[in-house]
Amino acid sequence: MDTLDQLVHQAAADFAAAVDSAQLEQAKARYLGKSGSLTERLKGLGKLEAEARKAAGAEINRAKEAIEAALEARRAALREAALLAQLAAEALDVSLPGRGNVAGGLHPTSRTLERIEQLFRSIGFVVADGPEIETDWHNFTALNTPENHPARSMHDTFYLEGHDDVLLRTHTSPVQIRAMLAHVARYADLDTMPEIRVIAPGRVYRVDSDATHSPMFHQVEGLWVGENVSFADLKGVIADFLRKFFESDDLQVRFRPSFFPFTEPSAEIDVAFMSGALKGRWLEIAGCGMVHPNVLRFGGIDPERYTGFAFGMGPDRLTMLRYGVNDLRLFFDGDLRFLSQFR
Ligand code: FA5
Ligand code: MG
Repeated sequence: MDTLDQLVHQAAADFAAAVDSAQLEQAKARYLGKSGSLTERLKGLGKLEAEARKAAGAEINRAKEAIEAALEARRAALREAALLAQLAAEALDVSLPGRGNVAGGLHPTSRTLERIEQLFRSIGFVVADGPEIETDWHNFTALNTPENHPARSMHDTFYLEGHDDVLLRTHTSPVQIRAMLAHVARYADLDTMPEIRVIAPGRVYRVDSDATHSPMFHQVEGLWVGENVSFADLKGVIADFLRKFFESDDLQVRFRPSFFPFTEPSAEIDVAFMSGALKGRWLEIAGCGMVHPNVLRFGGIDPERYTGFAFGMGPDRLTMLRYGVNDLRLFFDGDLRFLSQFR
């Protein structure tokens, strides 16, 4: 049988050979387990005389302590190795360049909308809004648009399946109706009713797609209703707005006679620059006119007493002109190479 010293050496060697804690615990069992070699020796003590048992017991205990110490040392070494391995595996190379923090920016259309709101606020307009899923009544009927008008066809308008009387609004003009109804509800005494001066920016939808038409685009509605509002006021407000918006007198504006069911007379507003990339090219930026008496009536306003003008412009087109962009769809593609130029 091995001497105790040999046993201790053998145990220490076995522990050192264990490459992970599972192997180490198996090695431990061989010495200190229920039938481990050291345990067997402890059991053997019972057969000895009292004197001899005492001496042998003390020696076995020393050997046991030595083995336990070797075990604990190996445990600590394996823990440390495992930790180092984990640290190595999870190491970050801090010398790699970071991903960076790219500053975002406003979408060019948002910039245009903010600018439009700011300019109209400065002449006493307030901002109103309405739902994008609109009733047929607000979008068409109350705007004096007959049942058989082509805009009401499925070719031009997105309807909602299973809901005949709602649609994606095709223009911001229904906000005219909502604004008038809200105004007369608020000022029950129509004799002291202040003028209505609202703009309504928002998204609108049409079955339409090419370089200057997108199925979702933006409009800004304008409405001014008062006792002596005239077409001359409309022209003045628009011309003044456009010069301020483009910060340029190098700008031609023309009012081209047109037709809308909800205005009479009606015009379309075209803009052209006299220089630059878009020189000489006319682009329609708005429809406008004097609010039709029927529309005032639908809005709860007496057309014998009040007149008004309205316009609906395309801020996406204004953005194209302001920044010299020739395809409207770029605004909605979400390509950061394009958008980041406006930061
Ligand atoms: C209208 O939508 C009328 N509601 C405007 C109006 C309001 C007239 C109040 C009278 C009184 P129109 O369909 O022309 O009109 O559109 C108005 C403007 O929106 C156009 O001048 C154009 O600048 C813009 N626009 C129209 N369709 C598109 C489109 N598919 N993509 C981008 N912009 C568009
Ligand atoms: Mg038009």
